[in-house]
Amino acid sequence: MSLSVVILAAGKGTRMKSNLPKVLHKIAHKPMVEHIINTVESLGSDAINLVYGHGGDMLKQALSNYNVNWCLQAEQLGTGHAVMQAVDNIKDTDDVLVLVGDAPLISTETLNKLVSAKQNADLALLTVDLDNPTGMGRIVRDDTNNIEAIVEHKDATDEQRKINEINTGMMVMGGADLKRWLGNLSSDNAQNEYYLTDVIEMAASEGKKISSAQPDWHREVEGVNNRVQLASLECAYQHRMAEQIMMQGATLADPHRFDVRGNLEIGNDVYIDINAVFEGEVELGSNVSIGPNCILRNCKIGDNTKIEAFSLIEDSTVAEACTIGPYARLRPGTDLAEGAKVGNFVEIKKSKIGKGAKVNHLSYIGDAEVGATANIGAGTITCNYDGVNKSKTQIGEGAFIGSNSSLVAPVEIADGATIGAGSTITKKVEANHLAIARGKQRNISSWQKPTKNK
Ligand code: UD1
Ligand code: CA
Repeated sequence: MSLSVVILAAGKGTRMKSNLPKVLHKIAHKPMVEHIINTVESLGSDAINLVYGHGGDMLKQALSNYNVNWCLQAEQLGTGHAVMQAVDNIKDTDDVLVLVGDAPLISTETLNKLVSAKQNADLALLTVDLDNPTGMGRIVRDDTNNIEAIVEHKDATDEQRKINEINTGMMVMGGADLKRWLGNLSSDNAQNEYYLTDVIEMAASEGKKISSAQPDWHREVEGVNNRVQLASLECAYQHRMAEQIMMQGATLADPHRFDVRGNLEIGNDVYIDINAVFEGEVELGSNVSIGPNCILRNCKIGDNTKIEAFSLIEDSTVAEACTIGPYARLRPGTDLAEGAKVGNFVEIKKSKIGKGAKVNHLSYIGDAEVGATANIGAGTITCNYDGVNKSKTQIGEGAFIGSNSSLVAPVEIADGATIGAGSTITKKVEANHLAIARGKQRNISSWQKPTKNK
């Protein structure tokens, strides 16, 4: 049997007060609907039908990497009407999983439980008990605890409103049943809408077996209607990430000040101080230590490397036992070999820094290759850009670049060469030579200090 998914995302999201369709608002820098699509993909579903109403162009652009069937619901006449827009893509033999687009934390495990609950039944509902169920559809059960119906809050009697078990909006049923039931929906209710939830009573009256499953964590089924709820789910998401990372062997100085916006993989005994942000794909080796207020984006950090406070590392690879920062910036294309040191106020772009080489203070190294154990003095600049083209700087193994030197690219400084401090180097320096390219010092003994004009 194949699994066809319908994601309901046509609601306007008025309370977001936004030009963006609600489901494109982000949790951990990723649109809510994309979280759901990724979860659905991990279930191994065969088709994803996305019912949309507003901002179709924005949605299609944001989700252009995904293979979804776009189902326009031009007018929002209710959740049942929304599912009707997808029926042309659904086969009678499919199992149909209906999801809501604005509950981004739903997990693969919970959806697997729901899909399994359908295996011994005709319809399975994901329900949850809430202390305050106001506004939600209530699950009505008979004396033997069988589900009889879902009653919307606005249509419920006072007695029914006391029920704490609510409909999350997520359910599974067979394609042929769904189509038959949808055909019988009416909008004769308090909201004049076609309620998807009315199919439950139809199923019960046909004597169909209805089962239910519950999420592992109640926040998985929480929807977002405004930005306060969005922030609250962002917090919940980050807290779950923090717990995962701690279970995998990292010590976090404070799990409440830790953000992952992508995937973070770690070795054992990683230490992460407060306010670290991890974006994209980040891999940290064993024993890596990250100081406070660092941002790591798409990078791989080798074992035993120490990153000090306020460093930013982006699209870079760092080998084992390096030290970086505080206040270092590794821009895209930086590659540090084992034991390299990059100190404070150093910017490195598209450069290889060799084994044990040091760039310790206030430097800009761009489009360069720095040999093993080379020492780049404070304030060294590779002048890699002439205003039109970028050029390369080669610095050999064991070279020593005196402080405040400008290396005008393209230029090569061969192995073991020394550059006198304050030099502006424009020509190749041969191996083991000393190059000095600065104004000669003159000491003037007859110098008279200026005096104040009267
Ligand atoms: C719905 C359920 C309710 C459940 C609650 C959980 C119905 C009738 N009620 O109520 O039992 O407790 O969700 O949050 O199903 N949507 C469309 N097109 C529409 C209407 C809605 O795509 O015409 C989408 C929305 O974008 C949203 C989802 O369906 O993603 C739920 O819609 P919403 O208006 O929030 O439903 P509720 O009335 O809250
Ligand atoms: Ca709702």
